[in-house]
Order: sequence, then structure tokens, then C-alpha cells
Amino acid sequence: MMLLGHVATAIYPGSFDPLTNGHLSIIHRGLTMFDRLIVAVLNNPRKQSMFGVEERKALIREAMPDPRVEVDSFQGLLVHYTRKKGVHTILRGLRAVSDFEYEFQLANMNRKLDPDFDTVFMMTGQDSFYISSQLVREVASLGGDVSELVPPNVFSALREKFPSNNGR
Ligand code: PNS
Repeated sequence: MMLLGHVATAIYPGSFDPLTNGHLSIIHRGLTMFDRLIVAVLNNPRKQSMFGVEERKALIREAMPDPRVEVDSFQGLLVHYTRKKGVHTILRGLRAVSDFEYEFQLANMNRKLDPDFDTVFMMTGQDSFYISSQLVREVASLGGDVSELVPPNVFSALREKFPSNNGR
């Protein structure tokens, strides 16, 4: 959407531990609606992650080398980050009804904290509605094949983490 020089930007926040084909599907769809996307990786020192924040950012950049996509990280409240960036719209993917309750809470709490805040939901593609980073981590760590669930560079990174399992 390009209105008289106005650039429509949205922030796509998440843990991305790691990036999956479901996330990529949302990024591609998001770029049909927004001119620019800021993919914002949550840096939560209190939560154990499989990939460090810089590793997660690098994997996203490699998988999505598009000048319309900026990859960044944030700590603390999302509303503080969106205000700092001057962007008040975030993008979130919805896979199934089970996602809805949590997303509804998140969207409303964020709007309570910042009345200008808006959440745009997009449905993931049919091929990725069952993919989550948590399941990818579990399947990969137990030696299952995740090659169709994540982009090739993430698949390689998982193989490096779990060499004995070979990833397949
Ligand atoms: O990929 P995820 O884990 O579903 O993403 C969740 C995320 C990062 C969007 C959410 O946990 C978040 O915004 N965390 C930052 C802290 C915050 O603002 N919490 C209050 C939101 S109601």
C-alpha cells in the first residue's frame, strides 16, 4: 500500500526460535499488504532459547534477503519497542482456533497499554498451519525430518546443533 509517499510499515514480532516456513509464509503475505516489515526478535534473557538472538536474526536475514525486510531485536515490552520505532501496527500469524485465545489476549493487552496499537492477523498457508517452532525444536532434537518445515539455512543450523541425528 503506497499512499502519496506514505510508507506502510508493520512490525512482525516473535521468538523465531527458529524461523519456520510458517513464519516465512506470513512475511511473504505481509509484504503484499505492507511496504516494509520489521521482523523483531524477542530477546528474553529469562527464557532459555535454542538459538541465541543474533543467530536467530542472522537466520532470518539469510532466509529473507529482501530490502523491504528489516531484522531487529527487542527486549521488554513490545509496546515500548513499537513506540520507539514509531510503528503502531503489528502483524501476527494465526494457524488455528487454538491460537486465537492467546492472540486475542495479547492484542487487547497491547492496546490497553497503548491505545494506538493495532494487530493485523494473517492466516498461514495451508502447508504450514501445523508448524510451530516448538515442534520443530522437538522433532529436530529427536532426529525427525524437519527439512520441509523450515528454510534450508535453518535446516543446516539444526543439523549442526544435532549432528548425531543427521536431521533426517
Ligand atoms: O513467537 P511468539 O513467542 O508467539 O511471540 C510472542 C511475542 C514475542 C509477540 C510476545 O511474547 C511479546 O510481545 N513479548 C514481549 C513482552 C510483552 O510485551 N509482553 C506483554 C504482551 S501482552
